[in-house]
Amino acid sequence: MSSDVLILGIESSCDETAAAVVKNGRQVLSNVISSQIDIHTLYGGVVPEIASRKHTERIVQVVDKALEEAGVGLKDLDAIAVTYGPGLVGPLLVGVSMAKALHYVSKVPLIGVNHIEGHICANYIAHEDLEPPFLCLVVSGGHTHLLETLDYGEYRILGMTQDDAAGEAFDKVARAVGLGYPGGPKIDKAAKEGDPDAIDFPRGKVRDSEYDFSFSGLKSAVLNYLNQMEMKNEPVSVPDVAASFQKSVVDVLTAHTVTAAKSLNAPAIALAGGVASNSALRQSMQEAADEMGIRFYCPPPVLCTDNAAMIAGAGYFAYRRGEFADLTLNAVPGLRLKHI
Ligand code: KG4
Ligand code: ZN
Repeated sequence: MSSDVLILGIESSCDETAAAVVKNGRQVLSNVISSQIDIHTLYGGVVPEIASRKHTERIVQVVDKALEEAGVGLKDLDAIAVTYGPGLVGPLLVGVSMAKALHYVSKVPLIGVNHIEGHICANYIAHEDLEPPFLCLVVSGGHTHLLETLDYGEYRILGMTQDDAAGEAFDKVARAVGLGYPGGPKIDKAAKEGDPDAIDFPRGKVRDSEYDFSFSGLKSAVLNYLNQMEMKNEPVSVPDVAASFQKSVVDVLTAHTVTAAKSLNAPAIALAGGVASNSALRQSMQEAADEMGIRFYCPPPVLCTDNAAMIAGAGYFAYRRGEFADLTLNAVPGLRLKHI
């Protein structure tokens, strides 16, 4: 009998319908992602009800394709891992219902995965040699966490955002300058043509906290700048706004991570979440890690933004700990990361 552990991952917490098969938490056999970006672009952001419907329409095909591409059947799986939170309740319910139905008919064990933990575990897939402990900055559309990964599945949260998530700030600023949805990649691209020192936007500070983040002040500063330029009838350089805004976000994210790395003597830094695909952030973190003489890990962009391989990966470590779910598993939109 093979000792390999094959896990089917299912992800539907926001606007990507995704399924993947991963071996031993690190080797991707298939990674199918059906994005709804084109539809939500028409509305300038994710419309939860439309997202739920699209997940319902696509989930069966996406799961079938993931199994087919991996060359496995349901009976070959050791577990089915599904995101059950945090995220949008309707979209989450589609993935959870699909996973429960598969579990019910096949008797393959079921595992509920926290989406944030999935993002962290994308690093194990991308980097075979990566083992805890390491410092991890999780930056996505809904979350901004600076945390220590002490062991597999064991986290200590150092800081979080007090208001907007980093990705949310990217999306809101992109909308304000007319770049549209999804904002992050569009700001990233526009910033390459702009001057990051053109406008002196504030670096968000949280009183009495070295590690917490705040991005709402920065967002307001960008909106004020745009209003002032309009009132003065002066032209706005979108690339300069994009580059200056991005620099402000990247500076704060890097500075907090460096402070934590130094004070905890961290052996390595990892990035995770959709914003981890930002080219300026990756470069800034790499340079900071090089300067400190510590290792830097970051998944390729396809494993940074939402995908199911990371969910199957996180599911593997839960499988090893014997953490299984049953048919009472439900969507938990406000699920928090379990931490010490
Ligand atoms: O992790 P993710 O796919 O979904 C959530 O769990 O939220 O992250 C999506 C977020 C969006 O806010 C998107 O604008 C941002 O990640 N994002 C980026 C880039 N690519 C995606 N932000 C900055 N630069 C990028 N290249
Ligand atoms: Zn995500």
